[in-house]
Amino acid sequence: MQSNTKLKKGLTCWFTGLSGSGKTTVTFALAKKIQEKYPNIKIEILDGDEIRENLCKDLSFSKEDRMINIQRIAFLAGKISKHGVLVLVPVIAPYQEARDKARALSENFCEIYVKASIEEVTKRDVKGLYKKALSGEIKNFTGISDPYEEPKNPDLIINTEKETLDESVEKVLNFLSTNSYLNL
Ligand code: ADX
Repeated sequence: MQSNTKLKKGLTCWFTGLSGSGKTTVTFALAKKIQEKYPNIKIEILDGDEIRENLCKDLSFSKEDRMINIQRIAFLAGKISKHGVLVLVPVIAPYQEARDKARALSENFCEIYVKASIEEVTKRDVKGLYKKALSGEIKNFTGISDPYEEPKNPDLIINTEKETLDESVEKVLNFLSTNSYLNL
């Protein structure tokens, strides 16, 4: 289904990366930029923290629960994006297997790796969680005491250590345009 001429088809855009890598920041800046220029494009953001506060409050950070978390979000993203909506999903999704399964649940899907090293995100520590993870106060913390599998074959990589926020947003916009999702 086509919602307008600017967004050619609904799409799920999954932003995977470590906590603090900039997934949410890039996603909201991207949505704002698209919305300012093209207010008719429908955008939905399924943010990891927000989803865990609402839809997935029952889940822990064990591998099994993370898989369920991603499965629920991916299911929802597929349902929404098929109505011509651009669904942006900033969620860690540390396992490649879960991301591959997520891909299969949307007609159109792209995996964007929001890259920042563990040293950098530990330094940033925006939410103070790395400090707690390093002291053992929080267990199973991604990148510290739990795995993060780097995407094997992402559709796009943005490097928030090397790029400014504007540059990262531009890269995603270019990607969406080059791949004929957005008609800029
Ligand atoms: S995922 O692994 O299941 O994809 P999700 O993106 O939903 O994770 O949630 C990650 C957010 O939960 C982080 O940004 C952080 O604020 C919080 N969090 C709390 N505990 C953990 C943990 N053990 N590992 C990672 N993130 C955690």
